[in-house]
Parts: sequence; C-alpha cells; structure tokens
Amino acid sequence: MKKKIAVVGAGNVGASCAMYLAEANLADVVLVDIIEGIPQGKGLDLTQAGPVRGYNAKVLGTNNFADIKGADIVIMTAGLPRKPGMTREDLLAKNAAIVGSVGKQIKKYAPKSFVIVVSNPLDLMTFHMQKATGFPTNRVIGQAGVLDSTRFRAFISMELDVAMTDIQAMVLGGHGDTMVPLPRYTTVSGVPIGELIPKDRIKEICKRTAGGGGEIVKLLKTGSAFYAPAASAVDMCKAIMNDEKRLLPASAHLTGQFGIKNIYIGVPVILGVNGVEKIVELKLSKGELKALQKSAATYKEHLKFLGY
Ligand code: LAC
Repeated sequence: MKKKIAVVGAGNVGASCAMYLAEANLADVVLVDIIEGIPQGKGLDLTQAGPVRGYNAKVLGTNNFADIKGADIVIMTAGLPRKPGMTREDLLAKNAAIVGSVGKQIKKYAPKSFVIVVSNPLDLMTFHMQKATGFPTNRVIGQAGVLDSTRFRAFISMELDVAMTDIQAMVLGGHGDTMVPLPRYTTVSGVPIGELIPKDRIKEICKRTAGGGGEIVKLLKTGSAFYAPAASAVDMCKAIMNDEKRLLPASAHLTGQFGIKNIYIGVPVILGVNGVEKIVELKLSKGELKALQKSAATYKEHLKFLGY
C-alpha cells in the first residue's frame, strides 16, 4: 500500500516539505492547515506540477485533521516563525499552544505515526510534542541537526570550493545559539577539515553555522528559512521509510547519555524504520561535552516555563 506523509502547516516550510516529498515520489502527501484555502491551493498547485516534474504522488490540501488518518509520518511545521531580532525561544508560549493542540490530533488520527518536529523553538517543541502525543520517544524526533549540519557543509564547500556532497559534518546541541558544531568530526571525503582550513577560519564558519538561521531571518525580514529546513525534514522521512539506518544528528530524548537526562537535544542518532533506533554516544572532548551540557541546561530552564 502506498505510504502517506502528513505535513502540518501550509506555510513556506510545510509547502516546501510537500514539494520535496512529492518530487522524491516517497509517499502521498496530505498538507493540513487551519487557514482556509491555502493548503487546498498549494496542494492543487503541487498536484498540477506532477506531470511536468515526473511524480505521481497525490498531494491533498485540507483543513480537516481527519484527513491525516493513518499517516505513517507527520511533519510538524505549524507555528509562528521568527522575525528579525527574535530568538527562537521568543516563540515559546505561542508555539507551545499550537504544538499541544496538533499533538492531540496526531494522537487521535495517526496513533502509529512517527512525528518529525520542525516548529521552533525546536528542542522544546519536540519535547512538548512527545508529551502531547504520549508516543514512545523513538517516534518523536526533532529536525535540527540535519539542517545545522547541512549549513555547516554548505559553508565549508563555499570556503574550499569543493563539492558540497563530499562534505560530512556533525553539529550537536540545541537548535539555537548554543549549538555545538564539531569540526573534529567534519571531513571532506574523509579528510578532517583541520587539514584543509586554518583554525581561525574554522572558528568563523562554526560561528556562522550557529547563526545560520538568524542570518536568513535578517535577509528575509518577514520570516525564516524554509528550503533547507524542509529538505532536511524530508531527508529524515526517507531514512525512516527506507529503513536506511543513517547516522544523523537529530533532536532526541536523552535518558542519561552524555550525562544529560529527560530533555530533547541534538545528538547523533541512528534513524531507521523504528525511528530513533539508537543514540550514538560519540567520544567528546571535555570542551565539547561541556558545551553540549551547557546547551542542555539552557533548555531545562525553558522547559520549566512550559510547566515541565
Ligand atoms: C532555521 C529555523 C527554521 O534555523 O529554525 O532556519
């Protein structure tokens, strides 16, 4: 039977997810939003692009959550985006209400689904989504590490003028200013970047990566990035649906790994048909571990604000 992926939120991120999913011929897509007409219009538009782009995926736009019934994966993109000058945490209260109510609908209509959360502040919203659905933690995953590391990869490619696809990178920690790019685990076709780029430039690139989302918010002025976030979420869908067992950074629920407990934060995971199949406890240097734990501590504070 054909697989079904639901995308909640028909804004720029949601619509781009629907587009990349259709282009990958991965599954039929249901695009759901509370705003009347937008998901229907974008769904129809994407359907009409199918003959030219060479896909047969059905893209249904709807205001009715019942249409997500039986979805294998739900990508949660709904929520307010950042405006210039805002941190992702500024969105906390408003987006928590949205995530809470969508979580209940997911639980009702797609109780067996995997949920990939993209809404910000990412790690907190993923935690909140897991609580709202009551799903096992391996089925609720935050998309952030793939995005942060694809940005890191793109910047390294720009620096060295080498193929983007030859670059592998690892970025841990929260999806925010405290994120932890790991140059030590970042290579160009296996060659550590320390061999190719001077230390001070690596530092600059790490800094640009951590501020990568903000850089785009500043340019767009009316919202945040959407192509790379959507592409990253779709990459995670592929890993789950095709049981690829990819080793990717993602926001996952920690139960003591890296000395961190009861929080969602970006760590390396194995992503396959069971969702987060494993958390990979990389050996970190003292400094790296401290940065990761500091990132987690920041989010613990914010979780209190949500009543956890
Ligand atoms: C970003 C937003 C989507 O990093 O969190 O662009």
